[in-house]
Amino acid sequence: MSDRTPAQIAAGSRLPPEPLIFERSQRGHGAQAQFAAAPAAAPAARRASALPKQLLREQALALPEVSELDALRHYTRLSQRNFSIDTHFYPLGSCTMKYNPRACNSLAMLPQLLAQHPLAPEQARQGTLACWHELQEMLKEVTGMAGVSLAPMAGAQGEFAGVAMIRAYHRARGDTARTEIIVPDAAHGTNPATAAMCGFSVREVATDAQGNVDLGALRAMVGPQTAGLMLTNPSTLGVFERSIQDIERIVHPAGGLLYYDGANFNAILGKVKPGEMGFDVMHMNLHKTFSTPHGGGGPGAGPVAANERLRKFLPLPVVMQDHLHYRWLNERDLPDSIGRLSAFAGNAGVLLRAYVYARMLGRAGMQRVADFATLNANYLMVELRKAGFDLAFPERRASHEFIVTLQRLKEETGVTALDFAKRLLDYGIHAPTIYFPLLVKECLLIEPTETESNQTLDAFIAAMRGILDEARTQAELVKSAPHSTPVRRLDEVKAARDMNLVWRRE
Ligand SMILES: Cc1ncc(COP(=O)(O)O)c(C=O)c1O
Repeated sequence: MSDRTPAQIAAGSRLPPEPLIFERSQRGHGAQAQFAAAPAAAPAARRASALPKQLLREQALALPEVSELDALRHYTRLSQRNFSIDTHFYPLGSCTMKYNPRACNSLAMLPQLLAQHPLAPEQARQGTLACWHELQEMLKEVTGMAGVSLAPMAGAQGEFAGVAMIRAYHRARGDTARTEIIVPDAAHGTNPATAAMCGFSVREVATDAQGNVDLGALRAMVGPQTAGLMLTNPSTLGVFERSIQDIERIVHPAGGLLYYDGANFNAILGKVKPGEMGFDVMHMNLHKTFSTPHGGGGPGAGPVAANERLRKFLPLPVVMQDHLHYRWLNERDLPDSIGRLSAFAGNAGVLLRAYVYARMLGRAGMQRVADFATLNANYLMVELRKAGFDLAFPERRASHEFIVTLQRLKEETGVTALDFAKRLLDYGIHAPTIYFPLLVKECLLIEPTETESNQTLDAFIAAMRGILDEARTQAELVKSAPHSTPVRRLDEVKAARDMNLVWRRE
């Protein structure tokens, strides 16, 4: 949260711009330990002379020359200008940005784990394999599935693996007529993209006014061409799909399979198992539910879990326990596997952090994750409604996230969801996801997560109230936000397409 006063927030006390490290450079300054003697030239020269002459650099590298202290301060200042989970509240719906416990980090960073070579023989890696096997078993337990592979390195790659398994299942039965995957219109973009990458055509099923899959529309589109349905539950609308049993009764008898997008698994962890809901295959975003660091597309881990009939198609490798010995299953053990997704075994550091997190939580802790994820979301939802915000699904209880729509505010004041999100930055709060899902106009998708305290939630509510008030009384202030960030509004298309990342000495 912001440590600026309301007056400073309104006025926008802006941090001074930070020059590039090259602009700080002064000839003769050096970044070796402050009082150490300058490094002797001889070793460098010897190293250089060992290289073929044509490979030697002819001019010195144009590196900036700054003292160690100046370099340290420069990068510390830059790091403080970023929004991050360690510094700010991050109510980013659909992305589950929550605290990453330091214990997970320090255990995963133990040199015995960190320094292992991925090609080290199994006998030398029994400890790590035991951790991974135990993680597989825990994920089997919470998903209610028969088998797990930890190989996928993102949610999207888990989806790819799962849909490739659906494809392999139908092919193995000679059922090549199943060319369609059904995806709700509220789905995350990776769902239809995955189906298309696996060679399926995508059929979009509508959502009803309550945020559930429209069963009539689903019935009408299921048939012998249906390979499967991908469903996120709770959905990206923040509601738990109530008709899940009906959906299962429509898709399975028609020969289709059910894919569960487990990106929102923290809402039901330890409470309900997708395997028991009738799903055949699913992925989990360990970097969300199991609280490992992520952002900006990685690093992540998206293990895939399958029921008995799809298990033999799991991606490799999978770890198995043979008496007291742990070993990788390979192509000989799982000849029907869809294959390997990467050179080695997945995202080792993320898997270890998730393993420690799961061990720390235990069975009771996992249920508390779901309790607090839903409690925090519902508390915020009710308080924001009281503060005058419109909800997209006012009749429904939130699962772990919910949607506010600013359509009415836009009509009254001209203030948009984008303006609102930008103004939150002045209050020291990362903006929620905006304009997703596409179904709801001028939306903010808000997920407080289970790790935030009551005080933080109350401060967020106060900020939201404050901005709503500003929008009604001084709309320009909100429309021209942010006022306090080092850069104001960017031309986002230009920033992405016309990047200026190279510094040249004048
Ligand atoms: C519902 C849903 N499915 C899939 C994904 C994709 O996961 P990842 O970003 O790990 O590839 C996300 C990511 O935000 C998501 O919210």
